[in-house]
Amino acid sequence: MSIQITWLGHASFALNADGYKVLVDPFLSGNPLASTSADALEADFILISHGHGDHLGDAVTIAKRTGAKCIGNFEIVNWLNGQGITNTHPQHIGGGYHHEFGYVKLTIAHHGSSLPDGSYGGNPCGFLITFKSGKKAYFACDTGLFYDMKLYGDEGIDFAALPIGDNFTMGPDDAFRAVELLRPKVVIPIHFSTWPPIEQDAAAWVKRVNEQTTSRALLLKPGESYTLE
Ligand code: NI
Ligand code: MN
Repeated sequence: MSIQITWLGHASFALNADGYKVLVDPFLSGNPLASTSADALEADFILISHGHGDHLGDAVTIAKRTGAKCIGNFEIVNWLNGQGITNTHPQHIGGGYHHEFGYVKLTIAHHGSSLPDGSYGGNPCGFLITFKSGKKAYFACDTGLFYDMKLYGDEGIDFAALPIGDNFTMGPDDAFRAVELLRPKVVIPIHFSTWPPIEQDAAAWVKRVNEQTTSRALLLKPGESYTLE
């Protein structure tokens, strides 16, 4: 069993989890760093962390085309139902559920979450996924640093994707502190340099994490994958 985690650019991922195709925050249209187009993506599941356009992204279009099950908080799922998407599964922060590809727990995220039409999107979240193999991947999504990351780290995280862009989320220094709390085996930086306000030297951040923590940091290019085995 292996999990292929492909970074599509910004905060978007395509996972192949033992044959299940899982998208996280699929934002391709209008994403200057997108490695593919929304039309090219297949999906069995779509995880949506919050309502902002750079995360909800193409989820509605992809869900309608593929029939993928959309997983998110109650408010976002409710809104998706109003868009005609019926294959949905609502959860909320702290709650986990055994989906076919693994156990998905919604985590804290300190951020906002309005939907494109201004609707209330509830609290934003991240995702802590325990795959069938027992391997754990943490997608922090959009958040500031919070000390409870230590509790997620206590679960034993194999792979983490952390925002380092600053301005809207953690910047490089807080993301470095997040690595110290989470202690992931492997970590990749995301949510940087898509636009000027979040321009960052990700290579310098990766070097610092590799030199000063026990975690292994990798710098993926959009479209590149990491395989969790
Ligand atoms: Ni956001
Ligand atoms: Mn964002």
